[in-house]
Amino acid sequence: MTWSELPGGLDLDDVEARLAAGRNLPTQTYVRPEFHEFELDAVFTDCWQYFTPIHRVSEPGSVATGMVGRTPIVVVRGDDGELRGFVNACRHRGYRVANDGHCARIQCGYHGWIYGLDGSLRRTGKAESDLSIVKDDLGLLPVSVDTFAQGVFVNPTPDAGTLADAFPGIHEVGAEIGIDADPERYTPFTTYRVEQASNWKLWYDNGTECYHCPTVHKDSFGAAYDTTDGELFFSTREGYSSSHFDPAPNADGLVGSGYRSIQFFPGTQFIQQDDIMIMARVIPLGPDRCAFQADYLAERGSDPERVEEWAKLWSQTYDEDGDIVETIQQNLTSGRIDELIYVDEIEDNSRFFHRLIWDRYRAHVA
Ligand code: FES
Ligand SMILES: [Fe+2]
Repeated sequence: MTWSELPGGLDLDDVEARLAAGRNLPTQTYVRPEFHEFELDAVFTDCWQYFTPIHRVSEPGSVATGMVGRTPIVVVRGDDGELRGFVNACRHRGYRVANDGHCARIQCGYHGWIYGLDGSLRRTGKAESDLSIVKDDLGLLPVSVDTFAQGVFVNPTPDAGTLADAFPGIHEVGAEIGIDADPERYTPFTTYRVEQASNWKLWYDNGTECYHCPTVHKDSFGAAYDTTDGELFFSTREGYSSSHFDPAPNADGLVGSGYRSIQFFPGTQFIQQDDIMIMARVIPLGPDRCAFQADYLAERGSDPERVEEWAKLWSQTYDEDGDIVETIQQNLTSGRIDELIYVDEIEDNSRFFHRLIWDRYRAHVA
């Protein structure tokens, strides 16, 4: 759905001035329901989101389901080895057609219509006699699918092109910063999922800067990696950023070979180190509610106890982040906090993503 005007009477010049001064989008965009609805349309309908580890859909007939923005998605590996994605809704009366797992064909659980793994409608049971139902016109509705490293990405828009169209140079940059794209290197280990009483933008803000790492994560991420001045970098490019940290000089026990990550707009984060890899995304659920889901993968051949230790460290890190964003959400809701300040250079990465969100706002009412 397109909108004829920005919700809440937002003033273009006012928002531009705020962003130029390193301030956040207006506070109402974090708390009012109409902005949640607007962002689902403007930000989360034509966007690439990390969806699932590639390993979950490696065999013909393997199926993964989930939501991207408003759109229910099913991704399936065909008999021909192709990965395809569809809207997870039957063309008969709109029921869900697939669940996670494995199947030889996709059968809707409502009235039993049957689709091939390529999405084509094959059988309609008793409806075969209804000549108004033209099977060729009633295949599952396509969405766009691509992969990066060990992850499957989905864009609900059917003709979105490739991930590299949206994020130019992404595969080259991944290789340049040391992200290993070999799907065999890691295998799924566990999933961390949490629902937070916070707007998704707060979670995203927090995850795209590490100014807070030495304080908030001093006993977790900040103990394993050197997050003090000069030892980290964020580099922003069109639609994504990459970051790197060196191991903390005094880390005892858990010392990684380095931290490499990519943040994809809007809300996906990939982290790769030795032993463990994390592929995560934030999912907007309401003006003051979001989910954060992180798939942890273990490096093949790594020590399971060490992977377990890393997983604990990462989960503690995310728990700490959750407390931060919920508290800020509460404080924004008080009506007394009109703006948040993003510090020049140190928090430029968050500023960059605010700008991308705002670009989507403007484009959606143009
Ligand atoms: S809704 Fe799927 S068969 Fe009726
Ligand atoms: Fe954090």
